Amino acid sequence: MVRFEDVSFRYGTSANVLSSLTFHLEPGSFHFMLGASGAGKSSLLQLMYLWQKPTEGRISLFGRDVAELSRDEKALMRRRIGVVFQDFRLLDHLSALDNVALPLRVAGRRSAALDEHVAELLTWVGLGDHIEAKPPTLSGGQQQRIAIARAVIARPSLLLADEPTGNVDDRLALRLLYLFEELNKMGTTVVIATHNEHLIQRFSHPVIRLAGGDTIPAPELRREAERQHFGEA
Ligand SMILES: Nc1ncnc2c1ncn2[C@@H]1O[C@H](COP(=O)(O)OP(=O)(O)OP(=O)(O)O)[C@@H](O)[C@H]1O
Ligand SMILES: [Mg+2]
Repeated sequence: MVRFEDVSFRYGTSANVLSSLTFHLEPGSFHFMLGASGAGKSSLLQLMYLWQKPTEGRISLFGRDVAELSRDEKALMRRRIGVVFQDFRLLDHLSALDNVALPLRVAGRRSAALDEHVAELLTWVGLGDHIEAKPPTLSGGQQQRIAIARAVIARPSLLLADEPTGNVDDRLALRLLYLFEELNKMGTTVVIATHNEHLIQRFSHPVIRLAGGDTIPAPELRREAERQHFGEA
């Protein structure tokens, strides 16, 4: 489903964000991707979503070397991928319902049952009272749930979710992870990037660990440890 061969990636002339990554994800698998802030989780997902090109190495998706795809082929391939962006990327002028229905409409599905199906999913993620609301009038966690509903509605072959539970409480986070598991049981390959080690310990799925990340100067680290021990002043 996804194959990385000796892939390195950097932005412009900066240092490598990802270095010599080789791995593959089987169709139907479920992986968490864990790494500190700045470790390169979003960058890696952007490579998988064909948003960025590797600086070195080869990426194959759905059995095709992505460097050989035409623009149209890339666009078609993207339709098989559901994405939850870290910054949501919702359309502010559309209602929650229309945001979520978008992937179905792009795929040419326009049945009367469509809206009902979308409303059902929005209700399931706890947004039954906000179906007609526009994203700017909703909280971060509510917007995040619209983004998740949009990513799963068309039952993509591959689901990439970037910190999809970063804005909701633990109970809701678990519910959303169960939604991804349901999708996975229907055959979707799932990759979820997060730095919430605590949350993913409840699941037995394999973990891809990205070792890099922002280094915190020592005095900051000490203060952080003190905060954890003694509470915020
Ligand atoms: N558009 C960009 N241009 C230049 N550098 C970037 C860009 N996006 C990210 N970076 C750098 O690449 C590195 C990896 O960033 P990335 O966003 O992939 O990390 P992350 O693991 O997703 O972090 P977080 O948990 O904070 O979301 C960081 O050092 C970051 O500063
Ligand atoms: Mg990120």
